[in-house]
Amino acid sequence: PAPGWATEADVVVVGSGVAGLTVALRCAAAGARVTVVTKARLDDGSTRWAQGGIAAALGEGDTPEQHLDDTLVAGVGLCDERAVRTLVTEGPDAVRRLIATGARFDADDDTGEILLTREGGHHRRRIAHAGGDATGAEISRALVEAVRAAGIDTVENALVLDLLKDGSGRAAGVTLHVMGEGRRDGVGAVRAGAVVLATGGMGQIFSATTNPAVSTGDGVALALRAGAEVSDLEFVQFHPTVLWLGPEAEGQQPLVSEAVRGEGAHLVDADGVRFMQGQHELAELAPRDIVAKGITRRMQERGAEHMYLDARHFGARMWERRFPTILAACRAHGIDPVTEPIPVAPAAHYASGGVRTDLHGRTTVPGLYACGEVACTGVHGANRLASNSLLEGLVFAERIAEDITAGAAGAAGAAGAAGAAGAEGPVRPATAAERPGPDEGVGPDPAAPGAAPLLASEARYEIQHIMTHGAGVLRSAESLARAADRLARVHDDAAAQLRRDGKTAEPGVETWEATNLHLVARVLVAAALRRAETRGCHWREDRPARDDAAWRRHLLVTLGPDGA
Ligand code: SIN
Repeated sequence: PAPGWATEADVVVVGSGVAGLTVALRCAAAGARVTVVTKARLDDGSTRWAQGGIAAALGEGDTPEQHLDDTLVAGVGLCDERAVRTLVTEGPDAVRRLIATGARFDADDDTGEILLTREGGHHRRRIAHAGGDATGAEISRALVEAVRAAGIDTVENALVLDLLKDGSGRAAGVTLHVMGEGRRDGVGAVRAGAVVLATGGMGQIFSATTNPAVSTGDGVALALRAGAEVSDLEFVQFHPTVLWLGPEAEGQQPLVSEAVRGEGAHLVDADGVRFMQGQHELAELAPRDIVAKGITRRMQERGAEHMYLDARHFGARMWERRFPTILAACRAHGIDPVTEPIPVAPAAHYASGGVRTDLHGRTTVPGLYACGEVACTGVHGANRLASNSLLEGLVFAERIAEDITAGAAGAAGAAGAAGAAGAEGPVRPATAAERPGPDEGVGPDPAAPGAAPLLASEARYEIQHIMTHGAGVLRSAESLARAADRLARVHDDAAAQLRRDGKTAEPGVETWEATNLHLVARVLVAAALRRAETRGCHWREDRPARDDAAWRRHLLVTLGPDGA
C-alpha cells in the first residue's frame, strides 16, 4: 500500500526499548531531529520485562577482561571478540551514564555501592538490578521520562512495514501502519537520512515465550525484505526457568529470573534430586544453554512436563524484598515459592542472531542501523551470556548515535526540507515522489507477482505450533525438514487463495505480523537445518557433537528479489 501521509526527521528510530530510546536521546542531545516510532506504547517492549539485570564489570576485583572471558565461553566459539571487547570495556561507563539519565539501581543502604548479583555463566557477581527483580521496568521508566522531557517526537501504535530507499539504494525512511494516532493515522511514511531498527526480538514465533506479544520479528523481516544481511538466526535462546502453567499455555509466560538461582535456588526433579550437579562446574549457574538442555533431558528421562526450582530456603522476607515481581506472578497462578518449589520449564527467550552489523551498528544497507535484540553485533555468538542484552542495547546505541551525529548519515537529506518541526513533526500528504517507486519495497504488497502474500492473522498460531514442534529446544534434520514443509504450505495456501480470489488477507497489524513471523521462521528453519552440529542453544539430536572444523562460522542470509 502507498503511504497516505509523510513526516520528516533526521533520524527515525523504530522501537522503544533500551536500545531505541538510548539512540534517540543521544542523537537528540547532539541536535538531530529524531522521531521514535513504536508498535504499542513507548514502554511496551521487551525491556520492561527484563528481570535479572544488566551485566557490567562494576564490582571490586572484577574486570572487563573477566567479563569478556565469560561471554566468549558462553558464545561457544562464535562471538566476535572485537564486539565483545567493545561491550565489556565500554559497558561500565555506559551504565554510569544510564544512572545519570535517571535509572535507579539497588544499592547498599550504608555505602551507596550498587548491589550486584550472579546469573548463569558469570564467575562473579556482576549483575546490577533495580526494584529487586524489576530492572527492565526501571530502565524503561527512566528512559521514557527522559525522552518525554527532551520533547522527542514519538509515534505510538505504529507497526513498521518497510524500508524506503533513495535512488542510490541508501535508507531514506520507513513506511508504517499507525492505529488511532490522530493526524498520523493509517499507512504513512517517516522520511529520514538514518533509520535505526531497535524492534526487539521474535519470541512470538514459538507458542510459549517470555517475550511480549509485540515481539514478532518485524525488524528482521523488514531488513530481509530490504536486502540486508541477517546472521545466526538458528541460535534461539530458551530460558531454562519459565513458570510452567500447563501444557496448553500459550503466548507470553512469566519468567523466573536466573538471579533466583544466582542467589542460591536449586533445580530439582519431582523427587527433589538436584540434577545439574555433576553436569557442569557451575551446576545451576552454568551458561543458559547447558541448563536448558539439562532440564529438557531430565524431563525426557522422567517423562515429565516440567522440573522444579526450589527456593523455599530464602524465606518470606527475602522473597518479598529481592524478588517481588516473581513472587507476585507465582502467587497470581496459585504457587507460593515460600512454601513450595516452583514448576518451571524452558521457553523461547532471546534471539542471539539478527540483522548483521559492524561495531557502529551499521547494517549492510547504507543508512540502516540495527541495535539491541534485532541486531547481530557478534557479541552473543551461539548463546548469549545472561544480562548482556540490556548492556548490548546501551553500548551499541551510543555508538550508533555517535556515528549518525558525526555526520555519516544524520543531518543530511531530510534535514532542512522539513521546516520547523512541531511536537509531532510536520505531517502532510505523501507526494508522488514519496509513494513507492520501482526501487522502494513498501510493505509486503500482497498483489505483486511473486511477492509473499499477506497471511491471515490466524496463521500466527499455526506458525507457532510448527516452530514449537519442529525447531524448539531440541531439533533434528527430520523435525526441521517437516517444519520447513509445513511453513511452505502456509505460504502456498495463501498464494493459491490470491490466484483464485485475486486477494489475500486484509492488510492490518495482525496480518503483517503473521507475515513477518512466517518470513523469519522460514529463514530460521533453513539456517537450523543447514547447521549440522550441536552448538550453544542450537541443539540437534541427530548431530549431538560440536563440529569446529566444519561449523566454526556464521550462516548469513539475504533474500533474493523474488523472496527466495
Ligand atoms: C533473567 O533475569 O533470567 C533474564 C536475564 C537475561 O535474559 O539476560
